[in-house]
Amino acid sequence: MGWLSWERFRCNTDCKNDPDNCISDRLFRTMTDLVVSEGYAAVGYEYINIDDCWLEKDRSYSGQLVPDRLRFPYGLHDLSNYVHGKGLKFGIYEDYGNYTCAGYPGVLGYLETDADTFASWNVDYVKLDGCYSHPRDMDRGYPEFGFHLNRTGRPMVYSCSWPVYQIYSGMSPNYSSIVEHCNLWRNFDDIQDSWASLESIIDYYGNNQDNIVPNAGPGHWNDPDMLIIGNFGLSYEQSKTQMALWAILAAPLLMSVDLRTIRPEYKAILQNRKIIAVDQDPLGYQGRRIYKNNGIEIWARPITPVYQNYFSYAVAFLNRRTDGTPSDVAVTLRELGLSNPGGYSVEDLYEDVNYGVLTPLTKIKVKVNPSGEYIFKYKS
Ligand code: GAL
Repeated sequence: MGWLSWERFRCNTDCKNDPDNCISDRLFRTMTDLVVSEGYAAVGYEYINIDDCWLEKDRSYSGQLVPDRLRFPYGLHDLSNYVHGKGLKFGIYEDYGNYTCAGYPGVLGYLETDADTFASWNVDYVKLDGCYSHPRDMDRGYPEFGFHLNRTGRPMVYSCSWPVYQIYSGMSPNYSSIVEHCNLWRNFDDIQDSWASLESIIDYYGNNQDNIVPNAGPGHWNDPDMLIIGNFGLSYEQSKTQMALWAILAAPLLMSVDLRTIRPEYKAILQNRKIIAVDQDPLGYQGRRIYKNNGIEIWARPITPVYQNYFSYAVAFLNRRTDGTPSDVAVTLRELGLSNPGGYSVEDLYEDVNYGVLTPLTKIKVKVNPSGEYIFKYKS
C-alpha cells in the first residue's frame, strides 16, 4: 500500500511554470508529509513511489543513473532518507529496456550497476517497466534483474510489467516463473482517469480469472494498477466501486491522487479500514466474479476467519447498468456458495450496518446504485 505518482502527475517536468505539480523532490516530500499527517499511514499506506521521468537523459561518466539535477537537487539518497525519517518506505521506477516508456535511460546493459545504485539509495521498492525491450527477452531479463536486486542484500519489493508486455505481443506469460521472481505484476492496460478505463480493467480480471486468480498469494500479487479515487474521472459511487473491487482482487493499493486537494468523502473511501482489511487479508486469496447477468455482477473473496473449514467471505454486488435507478439484487447465502450451517455474521463494509447472524437460506436483498456496489463481509 502506498502512493505512486504516475496516474495523476504523469511526466510533468515543467517545474518552471508548474512547480507544485512537476515530478520533483518537492512533490514527493509534500506527499510524504501528507500521507502521515492526513492519516493514510495510520491505515496502512506505506510506500512513496516515484514513477517515470525522474532521470537525467544521460548516465554519469562512470555509467550510473543520475536523477534530474534541477528537479531532484539533493539526489535520491537524501529524498529516501526523508521518506524513511517519516516512517515510510521509498520506491523507484525503471525499465527493462534501452529506455523507460518516457524515453529516459533504461537498465539494459547496466543491471548490476543499477541494482547496486538502488540499494545504495536505500530503495525499498522497484517498479520495472518493459518499454523498449523485446517481450521474448523478459523471461530471462526480469529474473536476472531480480537476481541482482537480491544480490545487494537489501530487501526490495519487485514490481514487474513482464506479463502485460508479453500478452500484448501475443505470448502466454509463464506465470509460475513470474510468481517465483516478482512480488507484483501488471496484467493489463494502464488505468486512466475514467469509469470506462476502470470498467475495462474489471472486465479483464473477471474474464481472465481462471488464468490470473491462482497466481495471487502472500508475497506475489496481480496488479490491476493504481487507485484513481479522488481525481477527476470517477463519481463517488464509482470510487467506492474501485476500492471494493480492488479489495476483492487482493490488489496492491497504490493511490495516485493529489493529497493536497482530495475531498473528504474520497479520502474516507481510501481510508476505509474494513475494506483495507479485506484487501490485506492474510490468506492472500484473490476473489472471483461468481455471477454476471444483465449488468449485475457478484464478486466474492474467501478471507479469514476460517471456522471449521468454512471460510469467511467478502462479497461485492456491482451494478453496471446505466438506467438511472437502483437495481434490486436478492440472493441467498447458499446461492453465493456460503454453506456453513452455523450461519454467518453479515456486515456492510461501507455503511457500518451489522445484520447479525444469517443462515445459508436467508435471502439478502439490496438496491444497488448505477455504477455502484455493496460490499459485505460474511463472517463464518
Ligand atoms: C507505462 C506504465 C505506467 C507508467 C508509464 C510511465 O508503461 O504501465 O504505469 O509507469 O509507463 O512512462
